[in-house]
Amino acid sequence: MKIDIITLFPEVALGPLRESIIKRAQESGAVTIKAHNLRDWASDKHRRTDDYLCGGGQGMLLKPEPIFAAVEALKTDESRVLLMTPQGQVFKQAVARRMAQEKHLIILCGHYEGVDHRVIDHLVDEELSIGDYVLTNGAVAAAVVSDAIVRLLPGVLGDERSSQEESFSDPSLLEAPAYTKPIEFRGMVVPEVLLSGHHSKIMEWKRVEAINRTRKNRPDLLDE
Ligand code: ADE
Repeated sequence: MKIDIITLFPEVALGPLRESIIKRAQESGAVTIKAHNLRDWASDKHRRTDDYLCGGGQGMLLKPEPIFAAVEALKTDESRVLLMTPQGQVFKQAVARRMAQEKHLIILCGHYEGVDHRVIDHLVDEELSIGDYVLTNGAVAAAVVSDAIVRLLPGVLGDERSSQEESFSDPSLLEAPAYTKPIEFRGMVVPEVLLSGHHSKIMEWKRVEAINRTRKNRPDLLDE
């Protein structure tokens, strides 16, 4: 897979992707990730990428010309163009799984009050939000989305099971609590059933605890 991120802050997008599993995924060739500075496609003498809103209103908007130029320079027949924006559909594990099937993702990062709507109407395949809050720019969101997609690519996680068994593989249930050694720590003990070696009892315990945890932290998932 190839990921091209278009942003005013390439270092913000790339920083989190330069460590650990995603770093190794790039070294192994499972993915190539590049971040491009939108300003490189600004053609006027001040290299402006933003402008005032037509019709008035607070703030600035990213101009269409540099974004069209950037996407047209990077796009092929196999590209899917995503825009990071709080106005997008919420990015969930199912979306990550679908995106992991793509060959080439171009991720546009919004900034200021967003982008000129002609970009969305004529260039963007999908608008994605990473949650119901507003970040200062989409580069952080692009890193989040890239991380979630790349870890699903074949061979990226050493243990294939770890991406299948975790929370959101079953989108209506969180993961059960998990413990490691020591078995007793400051008087706090690991639940006995986990030490019993009784596989079906352990699975049943995990299911009950997963439901309890979901009820406590994400009751909305049980409603779905
Ligand atoms: N840009 C600003 N806030 C965002 C969010 N919540 N998701 C995606 N992009 C954003």
